[in-house]
Amino acid sequence: MKRQRLHLKAPDNWINDPNGFIYYKGYYHLFYQYFPYEPRWGTMHWGHAVSRDLVTWEHRGVALYPSTHEDRNGCFSGSAIEEDGKLYLVYTGVRYEVVNPEDPHTCLDEQFESAQLMITSEDGFHFDNEEGKTVIIPPLTDKKIGDRTHTRDPKIWRGKDRWYLIIGSTVEEKYGEVLFYQSEDLHTWTYVNKAWKGPDYGWMWECPDFFETEGGGVLMVSPMGLLKNGEKEKNQSVCFPVEFTESTCQMEIPDQYQFTDYGMDLYAPQTTRDSEGRRVMEGWIRMPKPAEEGWIGMFCLPRIVERKGNHIYFRIHPNVRAAYSKEITDISCASEDGYMAVFELEDGETADIGGFLIKRKGNRIQTDRTAVYPSFEGAHLLSETPELTDGCRIEVLADKNLIEVYINDGEYVISNAVYGTGDFIKVNIEKTVHLYTLKEHGERTRGEE
Ligand code: FRU
Repeated sequence: MKRQRLHLKAPDNWINDPNGFIYYKGYYHLFYQYFPYEPRWGTMHWGHAVSRDLVTWEHRGVALYPSTHEDRNGCFSGSAIEEDGKLYLVYTGVRYEVVNPEDPHTCLDEQFESAQLMITSEDGFHFDNEEGKTVIIPPLTDKKIGDRTHTRDPKIWRGKDRWYLIIGSTVEEKYGEVLFYQSEDLHTWTYVNKAWKGPDYGWMWECPDFFETEGGGVLMVSPMGLLKNGEKEKNQSVCFPVEFTESTCQMEIPDQYQFTDYGMDLYAPQTTRDSEGRRVMEGWIRMPKPAEEGWIGMFCLPRIVERKGNHIYFRIHPNVRAAYSKEITDISCASEDGYMAVFELEDGETADIGGFLIKRKGNRIQTDRTAVYPSFEGAHLLSETPELTDGCRIEVLADKNLIEVYINDGEYVISNAVYGTGDFIKVNIEKTVHLYTLKEHGERTRGEE
């Protein structure tokens, strides 16, 4: 099986959202939306990758595939929990009412319906696709609750005394909403409440995730049609500091949101708790064309999500830091799995990461990937953070196809897919730059001697 470090990439063909992310029986399991036949979106399967440490990943093939009436055209996104030693996956099954006559892997004019399904596993590796699936929420019939077609991506969690499920939907395709369900036993689910913001927040909310942190509740959603700036990617992941009342499933969502990532490539993120109980997130990095080797789609690095006041931070996971701790003096000494570059920027300064530019303008960071990205109508080339509040310390984690720029320990992050940075990745900046690469197993780094 293929091992990958730093960034998890599609094993081949196409991947999109992370699914069923969980630490279970000593492994991190990360499933993902997978089309195994071509490097484009089509009938969805759940691919499966596992890791002991969130740094080194191993692809384990297909876990879920269409096998029932309800999911015959795709196993869409969903989540995982553990109960009584078993792994439970919940996901959206889709059934096309009219298949596209030119392509059996897509449907015609959005004529499909969505049900929510569950499947369990005793070990996290074996799934009985033929006999093991049950429908927990049939296609919605009450329009006052949600949409029969566009209701998907259930995320479950354990509350104080019962199970909760949040799922994305739309109010008449006019604005996005989330629905809340409760269950005592994981099998019977009751609709309780909903939350929405109105027409300026996209027409459908995909991949919702809600969790409590030490600093308060966080809602993440991926609204479709959020941006109207002429760029190709109108769907973007956003997060809000929220208040949630379990007994009534009432959620207070403020008007102001943050983008989860200011590179505008990250979408459909999902969180879970890591082995230490920290909230950790993975997200899909969208790519406009396949990488050189033919695969398309990858994931960002695992990020610790924290809320302080009303700000949400996305910090480099300590395991990644520990793995990328072998100090090097020159980028040519970096391993194939990429490197980390650490430096500060003063107002007006620019760092050049093999053609990918990082500039400080006042108290904002701007990036420019024009030189390392295809040019097409609506391409997002320039990114910018909001005003920084706490200096300008930059940590870049880079490999051949993905550059992640963490600013001030995750005050903001800009992640961008790149092409053609290949062998000439280097940092051109007239100041101290610390460079780190992957520490091989058993190897010591400075400070440990
Ligand atoms: C988000 C999404 C989800 C859906 C899945 C299908 O990227 O559209 O809403 O479940 O992808 O692949």
